[in-house]
Amino acid sequence: MIMRDIQLPKVVYMILTVGNTKGGVGKTTLAVQIAIARAMAGRDVWLIDGDRQGTAAAIAARAEVGRQPGIACAQYADGPALRGQVQQQRDKWQDIVIDAGGRDSTALRAALILSDVLLVPFAPRSYDVWALDDMAALVDEANSVRDGLRCFAVMNQADPGEHSADNIEAAAAVAEVPQFAYLSAPIRRRKAFSNASGAGLAVAELASRDPKACTELEALVSSLFNIHMNV
Ligand SMILES: Nc1ncnc2c1ncn2[C@@H]1O[C@H](COP(=O)(O)OP(=O)(O)O)[C@@H](O)[C@H]1O
Ligand SMILES: [Mg+2]
Repeated sequence: MIMRDIQLPKVVYMILTVGNTKGGVGKTTLAVQIAIARAMAGRDVWLIDGDRQGTAAAIAARAEVGRQPGIACAQYADGPALRGQVQQQRDKWQDIVIDAGGRDSTALRAALILSDVLLVPFAPRSYDVWALDDMAALVDEANSVRDGLRCFAVMNQADPGEHSADNIEAAAAVAEVPQFAYLSAPIRRRKAFSNASGAGLAVAELASRDPKACTELEALVSSLFNIHMNV
């Protein structure tokens, strides 16, 4: 009997951009966490660093210690390269996660054209919330040439207190920006997130596990991907 290796076409379930023109809001942290979480769930994940190597460095650290699953990671500095490569390779992957930033970044603009979902992390500080207007303008620009980009804002580095006034105020301010739906799955300020992402690990892979960090990340990943699958 001849055994044949049947190659089923892979479905791209989602191209997700974690983007913000503002730096330091947690794009790299969340892109790394989401990509590894999806890979641990058995997906073929491609992580793209379109923002100054933070993601690529984290994934290189993961590869160096041989941690499985390995994460495929590419780095593209400009929009044309990113767009060309994603268009060419998208069918090989189930989930593509793009880390993109920079006010005048062509990579961010290209990512907004290609993505199904945009996730914009922001910290519960007023200047971070104002910076969403910048992103809202880029979303309008993307929507002028395409349909169907779903945009979510998520609080990152939220105050750990359950009833923090800063968190509540920031969530209310974001609700005023019509381009974004507020995703009610905040990631709080926890050492586990910075330690894990820096080492290219999921929070669930850290030797000293922080259950709260794991639960928050799971809630974010499942709300992002379930929302997408259900539409
Ligand atoms: N939820 C979090 N808890 C603790 N530290 C965080 C969290 N998110 C991000 N950080 C830290 O904040 C800094 C900026 O995050 P980073 O992901 O590099 O932002 P960006 O990619 O948007 O510039 C990093 O030092 C990172 O470790
Ligand atoms: Mg970054």
